[in-house]
Amino acid sequence: MRACTVCHGRQGQASSHGYLPRIAGKPAGYLYNQLTSFRDGGRHYPLMRHLLENLTDDYLREIAGHFSALELPYPPPQVAGAPATELTKGRTLVMHGDPARGLPACASCHGDALTGVMPATPGLLGLPRDYLNAQLGAWKTSQRRAAAPDCMADIAARLEPQDIAAVSTWLASQPLPANPRATAPPTRKPPVACGSVPAGSPNRAATAGTATAGATPMSAAPGTPFTPPALRRGEYLARAGNCAGCHTVPGGRPFAGGRPIDTPFGIVHSSNLTPDPATGIGQWSADDFWLAMHEGRSRGGRLLYPAFPYPNYTRISREDSDAILAYLRSQPAVQRSNQAHDLRFPFNTQWALAAWRMLFFEPGARAPDPARSAQWNRGAYLVQGLGHCDACHAPRNPLGATRGADELRGGPVPGSLWHAPSLGAPQDLAANRHRDDLVRLLRTGQSGGAAVQGPMAEVVYRSTQYLDDADLAAVAAYLQTLPRQDRPATVVRDPEVPSGRGPTLYRQHCADCHGDRGEGVTGAYPALAGNRRVTAASPQNLIAVVLAGGFAPATAANPRPHGMPPFSHLLDDDAVAAVVSHIRGAWGNAASPVGMTQVRNLRQGR
Ligand code: HEC
Ligand code: HEC
Ligand code: HEC
Ligand code: HEC
Ligand code: HEC
Repeated sequence: MRACTVCHGRQGQASSHGYLPRIAGKPAGYLYNQLTSFRDGGRHYPLMRHLLENLTDDYLREIAGHFSALELPYPPPQVAGAPATELTKGRTLVMHGDPARGLPACASCHGDALTGVMPATPGLLGLPRDYLNAQLGAWKTSQRRAAAPDCMADIAARLEPQDIAAVSTWLASQPLPANPRATAPPTRKPPVACGSVPAGSPNRAATAGTATAGATPMSAAPGTPFTPPALRRGEYLARAGNCAGCHTVPGGRPFAGGRPIDTPFGIVHSSNLTPDPATGIGQWSADDFWLAMHEGRSRGGRLLYPAFPYPNYTRISREDSDAILAYLRSQPAVQRSNQAHDLRFPFNTQWALAAWRMLFFEPGARAPDPARSAQWNRGAYLVQGLGHCDACHAPRNPLGATRGADELRGGPVPGSLWHAPSLGAPQDLAANRHRDDLVRLLRTGQSGGAAVQGPMAEVVYRSTQYLDDADLAAVAAYLQTLPRQDRPATVVRDPEVPSGRGPTLYRQHCADCHGDRGEGVTGAYPALAGNRRVTAASPQNLIAVVLAGGFAPATAANPRPHGMPPFSHLLDDDAVAAVVSHIRGAWGNAASPVGMTQVRNLRQGR
């Protein structure tokens, strides 16, 4: 929870100034709804979204419970510098509404004392004025959405900008009553049921459910269909290929498509894979589906864009393709038409795609390598095929193609701050230690005291944690035989060497969790001293971690991961370079320092 309090104040009691809302003591159902909403796109704040991305509903419920149970003093109210008429107007709207405009009193839902009503209507006192203004404005412009029925959208639509200003100013200037807790719900049911906690969000259960505390994946939420054994194989394979990751919009219906995939050539939208006959693949035969997976052609013959990783999936067997189709057919049908892609000329033409395929696409399975064990061949099949690991772990040429699914030499992850390292075995680790580390990392998101972050956290969260022991061992056995091809360490000749503030910044912002000497806390905060990732040749991911923070993925083996706060809003380029250089050179670490230009380029996406 410390990852939250950098922004929300010590223990979640933000001050009455500025923009940050207090979270301590709010109704747990309300907090939970907000957390799922930030994660799934109903509310927008990129830094929080990134933190919550790979956390389960169960864990978010626990986090909500933690902050809800805190009883902390409230800050003094803001001094209202507004004329008395405005304050009176604000008070009238809040306490009595405006029947002429069909505007109910805010107090009718938020409680007579305005301290909120259990389980999911928040209090309105103790929040900064700027925050209140922004939230009501966000509802007006549909930037903020709440679980249906979204009463606040309706109310905000009826408020004029002057009303919002008056209401926010008055609310922010009110002291809290002696008992600031939310009240129990009224015994008579209100006419409209807003302010409830939806029973799980089914979309998440299907795309990213984890097998935590008794909840089986796919059936975690009530109403999600039970998967019969015959379809489990297909479900397993769809996870191994992370089909749901690309074919589901955050917070949307599973496999209904529409997620925009950013490519250097424009945006490609994923397709509806649900069995809807008109807009999905309801009318596809097993041959049609095989043609898409194997040849990259849609039903009807259209060439598909390789943002759909068919250059990998072409390696899978017909049997596996049929099993995935059977599983997709068992999903609820969703009517959603496929969107047109938004690509630049000439990449938006079929002839350019045909030329690309001639150069870079070779359909068909690879013959097993007889010189290798069955285990190795199984690993190669998974990594090169469904796993499509080269999508990130290989460099791309200017036309976006990798050199082949076994060339996992490492590369920048398109459209992100991250660099995916070479996947070969490092020289300085014993082979069996490396194999065990790999299996642990793909299963739990952590190994050797370090955790995966960014795009890889998502891969573990949605995909590799579900692979069985034999398949994980096969993946590790295969990866281990690849050559390690890390980029050579570049000596920084950055004219802008960071200032000497590193040690001070470290004590101020990092030592609380990572320890005075970078020793970390076992099971919670990774050690930075002697950490191979801290001393890696390329400091790119270190800079990315410090800027973006993040939680390790929540997995069955590690259901309540700890989080690291983002620092992009707190530390400037010099400070980030200074603190990263410090941890690369302290406590026996001896990696090259980081220049300010590197940080700036990364922040600006260069
Ligand atoms: C980088 C700063 C930052 C961090 C770190 C952060 N938050 Fe937030 N949080 C915000 C801001 C800013 C908002 C208001 C966003 C908006 O405009 O809606 C917010 C809003 C919220 C809200 C909604 C409050 C309300 O009254 O509606 C909750 C709940 C919340 N955060 C919980 C958390 C939790 C739990 C964590 C840790 C996992 C966390 N936040 C980490 C900045 C942060
Ligand atoms: C019909 C019931 C209802 C009425 C009337 C109502 N609200 Fe709300 N309000 C809610 C619910 C429910 C939520 C929680 C929505 C969510 O989960 O995001 C909420 C949330 C809010 C929030 C967000 C608080 C935060 O911490 O982010 C603000 C601000 C707010 N209401 C202001 C008002 C004002 C001002 C009025 C009167 C003009 C009003 N509400 C009237 C039900 C109501
Ligand atoms: C990295 C993102 C990504 C992943 C992972 C992914 N897809 Fe796709 N898929 C796409 C995109 C984008 C398209 C649209 C391509 C186009 O229209 O040219 C697509 C199209 C398809 C199509 C063609 C649909 C049609 O209407 O023509 C099928 C079938 C398909 N995907 C199946 C799968 C299966 C099965 C998996 C998992 C094994 C999977 N996809 C994983 C991005 C992805
Ligand atoms: C609230 C506790 C907390 C604070 C404060 C914090 N971190 Fe972290 N840090 C973590 C956790 C937890 C992880 C592992 C999470 C993950 O990998 O996503 C982590 C991961 C890291 C990693 C990646 C280590 C690895 O093995 O991959 C680096 C580097 C790092 N932190 C540096 C810093 C620096 C530099 C600061 C100060 C500017 C800092 N941290 C502040 C909790 C914290
Ligand atoms: C969406 C992009 C993406 C995909 C797909 C992906 N990875 Fe990664 N992977 C990354 C990034 C980025 C990192 C570095 C993250 C970090 O250091 O925390 C990483 C790190 C790793 C590491 C840790 C390496 C080290 O030296 O610390 C392993 C092992 C790994 N990935 C294996 C795989 C395997 C196996 C697959 C295919 C099943 C895969 N990855 C697919 C992006 C990806």
